[in-house]
Amino acid sequence: MNKKIPTKNTFTTKDFKRLEPTPEEGIRQVTEILRSGNLFRYSSENPLDSAVVLFEQEFAKAWGGGMRHALAVNSCSSAILLALKALDVKPGDKVLAPAFTFTAVPSAIADLYAEAVLVEINQNYTLDIEDLKRKITSNPSAKILLLSHMRGYISDMDAIMEICRDRGLTLVEDAAHALGSRWNGKLIGSFGKISCYSFQSYKLINAGEGGLAMTDDDDLMAKMILDSGAYESLCRQHVSLPPSAFDRYKNKRPLFNVRMSNVTAAIARSQLPHVTERIAVYRGRYAYITGKLRALAAVELPESDPRQERVPDSLQFRLKGFTPDMMAIFLKTAKERGVPLAGFGADKDNARAPWNWSYLKPQDGLEKAHAALDTTCDMRLTTNMTDEMCDYLVETVRDAIGEAEMSAAAPRFSLKKTSSGAR
Ligand SMILES: Cc1ncc(COP(=O)(O)O)c(C=O)c1O
Repeated sequence: MNKKIPTKNTFTTKDFKRLEPTPEEGIRQVTEILRSGNLFRYSSENPLDSAVVLFEQEFAKAWGGGMRHALAVNSCSSAILLALKALDVKPGDKVLAPAFTFTAVPSAIADLYAEAVLVEINQNYTLDIEDLKRKITSNPSAKILLLSHMRGYISDMDAIMEICRDRGLTLVEDAAHALGSRWNGKLIGSFGKISCYSFQSYKLINAGEGGLAMTDDDDLMAKMILDSGAYESLCRQHVSLPPSAFDRYKNKRPLFNVRMSNVTAAIARSQLPHVTERIAVYRGRYAYITGKLRALAAVELPESDPRQERVPDSLQFRLKGFTPDMMAIFLKTAKERGVPLAGFGADKDNARAPWNWSYLKPQDGLEKAHAALDTTCDMRLTTNMTDEMCDYLVETVRDAIGEAEMSAAAPRFSLKKTSSGAR
């Protein structure tokens, strides 16, 4: 009865995890920088000789949606930290953030000894607007919403902007997963007072590590530049601001050294001309895969708001009615076949599941986050996926569902409800 599924690995985990190679132009520029020794962003007399400055300018022009200032740093986590610090977040201050994000986001709040207040998400992995209103009411001192567009899912930005206006909240966007995404045609990252991006390896631009903060506000950018490690006269190399912009804050703020190096900038910069084409490839792959997954009765895909233009560089779906035991069998089967699907609820250690952030104060409820995430499967897509790889992924999902369902039906399988299970 419990027929073993074939474990033939047409493709391996390595195929599915392939990273974006650095374009030849990037390799050429990196070599030039290494030969010159000019690795430090501030080592040239002329700011425009710095790859970091050129990257900041080109990134802002292409993806800034009108924002005038960009500051490249060593990670998106650093960009978020600088943003919160520039907004004067102090120990004990409350900061609202979605319950579904990467642990780096609540960590940035906790690192400033502030208090994260997590807002529920809905079945489409976006912010639950009613819970946002409730949390604002029950935490009247919270003045910042740090909104992650997690996995590129875009929350109802019309409602969020209205709430921020009415309730006096400052919006900081974490666009680590949302480069090139839009809401109603407007670029994500251009809604907030400050927006943060990531160029860590698993992002649309793969620089190994890297991040960037963008704002249209001179004062906030001056603070972030100084705090990022632009000491003495180095701040003058940030040409989007006049030197006088720094006078109020210079030597009055403790700094972090979280600068980006010219090598990282050259790697990231060489990928800018490819971002649009990568987005188109992801959209094609995602449409192909989900078109086939829809035919599987157990699979539930998130619904897409027509105002949301997501960049689908990852895949999420829920498995209807799956118990924690069934999730475990499903994920194990997929893994054995070389398909690196993860479970937000099912993996005890998942850094994107809010119940694993035990460094935070206990949070109310999170029932909706559980409902959305407990049976969610998650996988990064790659631009090198062929039709055959996509077919193999779908076949594996189908077979792993079959394996989990068969095990659930078999007498040896305990269907006793566990109180903890996937949580
Ligand atoms: C949603 C989200 N925000 C922020 C970050 C932090 O990015 P970084 O690794 O560049 O610090 C990550 C990291 O993957 C992330 O997934």
